[in-house]
Amino acid sequence: MEHLIDQIKAHLAEVEAFQSTDAAEIESFRIQFLGKKGILTDLFAAFKDVPNDQKKAFGQQINALKMAATAKLEESKQGTGPKNKSTTTTDFSRPGQPIEVGALHPISILRNQVIDIFSRIGFTLSAGPEIEDDWHNFTALNLPEHHPARDMQDTFFVQTNPDILLRTHTSSVQVRHMEANTPPMRTLSPGRVFRNEDISARSHCVFHQVEGLYIDKNVSFADLKQTLLYFTKSLFGKSKIRLRPSYFPFTEPSAEVDIYWGLETEADYRITKGTGWLEVMGCGMIDPNVLKNCNIDPEEYSGYAFGMGLERMAMLLYGIEDIRMFYENDLRFLKQFSSAD
Ligand code: PHE
Repeated sequence: MEHLIDQIKAHLAEVEAFQSTDAAEIESFRIQFLGKKGILTDLFAAFKDVPNDQKKAFGQQINALKMAATAKLEESKQGTGPKNKSTTTTDFSRPGQPIEVGALHPISILRNQVIDIFSRIGFTLSAGPEIEDDWHNFTALNLPEHHPARDMQDTFFVQTNPDILLRTHTSSVQVRHMEANTPPMRTLSPGRVFRNEDISARSHCVFHQVEGLYIDKNVSFADLKQTLLYFTKSLFGKSKIRLRPSYFPFTEPSAEVDIYWGLETEADYRITKGTGWLEVMGCGMIDPNVLKNCNIDPEEYSGYAFGMGLERMAMLLYGIEDIRMFYENDLRFLKQFSSAD
């Protein structure tokens, strides 16, 4: 009898020492102790031959072994390891998970660059509401009601009120700035604008503009051209521009700004349609009517204004083929800008 008790104690020690997360090892442990032909079955068989006065002590020992083996089996299956020991399955020597670093959106990157370039020559920033009234978006800008040029900018109206709309350009911010300040003034107004246009690879109904405004005594067209040249040199590294006559209701004379992009690569041919020139923005001398509408005396002051679309420029700078990429929030696209500043 003594010898059976010793055997049980040895098995108990074996059970306690068992430690594994390997499914095959755990299964063979189960078969060894709790299987049909396992150690416990044998011990229960031996129980019959134990003298009656020792049955109690012996029974307790077998039960203790059975409970220990069952508990160990459960514990191993859950992979939790023994609860009262401080061992752990975490391997602290493994390399850590890399931390994902966020990236600025390409439009934000470009907007910041444009702001930076103009702030070096004294331009401040101004902002205004995206939901505008007719006065600031149209009328004050020399676009009275029924003016045919209103059709140039397909407008989203807010509900049925024709006086409240989503601004179609950030020129509305310039009107607000002129109304609230006195010359000289030099301000840049970046912002989101809305036009009721079909969405395609080239155009979207929501996009971003940066417009600039400079008003002082004796501001001339030559000042405008020089400022734009400084800008295109700084942003694109291109030092040749041309101004083509154009029309905007709020400027007179008006011009489109083309930069000479060059014709060195196949892509240059494609994006400039074989001409080497690229249109990047609109500009002009502020129409005297606009100055008057904003309580600035056109006899005393003159000024220039310019406006550009950020998406268009970002597409050129980063070689992006489809404007819709900017708004889809595809991480594979956005992550490509994580190293840009
Ligand atoms: N507001 C014009 C547009 O949205 C751009 C522009 C601004 C043109 C200032 C000339 C002067 O197209």
